[in-house]
Amino acid sequence: MDLYEYQGRDLFERHGLPVLAGGVATTPEEARAIAERLGGRVVVKAQVKVGGRGKAGGVKLAEGPEETVARATNILGMDIKGHTVHKVMITVTADVAEEYYFSYLLDRANRTFLCIASVAGGMDIEQVAAETPEKVVKAPIDANTGVDETKAREIVSAAGFPAEVADQVVEVAVKLWQAFVAEDATLVEVNPLAKTKDGKLLLLDAKVALDENAAFRHPDHEALVDQASVDPLEQAAKEKDLNYVKLDGEVGIIGNGAGLVMSTLDVVAYAGERHGGVKPANFLDIGGGASAEVMANGLEIVLSDPSVKSIFVNVFGGITACDAVANGIVQALALLEQRGEKATKPLVVRLDGNNAEAGRAILDGANNPLIQRVDTMDGAAERAAELAAAGV
Ligand SMILES: Nc1ncnc2c1ncn2[C@@H]1O[C@H](COP(=O)(O)OP(=O)(O)OP(=O)(O)O)[C@@H](O)[C@H]1O
Ligand SMILES: [Mg+2]
Repeated sequence: MDLYEYQGRDLFERHGLPVLAGGVATTPEEARAIAERLGGRVVVKAQVKVGGRGKAGGVKLAEGPEETVARATNILGMDIKGHTVHKVMITVTADVAEEYYFSYLLDRANRTFLCIASVAGGMDIEQVAAETPEKVVKAPIDANTGVDETKAREIVSAAGFPAEVADQVVEVAVKLWQAFVAEDATLVEVNPLAKTKDGKLLLLDAKVALDENAAFRHPDHEALVDQASVDPLEQAAKEKDLNYVKLDGEVGIIGNGAGLVMSTLDVVAYAGERHGGVKPANFLDIGGGASAEVMANGLEIVLSDPSVKSIFVNVFGGITACDAVANGIVQALALLEQRGEKATKPLVVRLDGNNAEAGRAILDGANNPLIQRVDTMDGAAERAAELAAAGV
């Protein structure tokens, strides 16, 4: 989960890092109130989860409350690389003398954590790395030892931070690492890490990504989720403990096991190319158990997606045998009817593996006109794509 800058700023503050006073506003009037509270000159910053806000006109100075209102009016609603600005952060201004870059991230390719630091900050770090790679230091961080003062001094000297800020950068580097670990982050990026004219170090920007797999350790992270941007179907699925991801196609997918569902997406996308370009509408893994209730919940979510025109249920019987799954599907359709949400979209079902024959017999015996049994994965994908194309 990526955080907004203001959330990152607050997180840095909680971990004792030097940030500027500020507040977040959704209207120009709220922005005025914050500017009045802060006093003096302020910076109005678009809050969007995308880089390059400054260049896009989303970061502006304002001399006082009146100008803050004007700037906020201008920035709120602005489109930055496809992201609409709904919030602005107002902060005190700093007298910036120099701008540096500092980040920690999870380097998956090299199976390590990485510190990237540069005295050429403020601008696009990718550009600095491409044009003047000698100005960018990349230091792997051992997860077991992390960043203590010695490691931090190594990074600071390798990156060539000026002597007058070295101690402050060391302190920031250690605290930032502690924050990175404590919050289970996968990225903390500060660009710019600024030196002010009176020699103080400040974190003027915050880009933070948190590891959602560690959410169970952080009940407070839930509050950072941007509810307005959560897909309602994904939210409903989450409440039912379903592994569901909304995609933008027309063929609803239900399968058991993440690997099987992933390959189902592939075969449906491939088959869809022959049927007017229809695509999978979602990822949904109902897991090993696949009881009637789980199947009903899954069907309910997939059926409630208005773009879905057909559904492909792809199940490979293992510990849960196909006859149990077939009963689950039949009962799920009945359950939905009882709930007053009778299914109307065609269901292509492919059962294979443990007790497949018995499962297929149950489907046939149910005589439900919505259920179409196809026994191969490719054949079923083809049929589901064809039905979706016909329903579009
Ligand atoms: N509080 C502040 N006081 C003075 N100058 C600031 C302040 N905040 C930002 N700036 C200036 O504005 C520039 C851009 O700000 P910031 O880094 O937050 O946005 P950005 O880099 O354009 O956005 P992104 O990091 O999303 O690409 C900074 O490099 C800095 O020079
Ligand atoms: Mg920045």
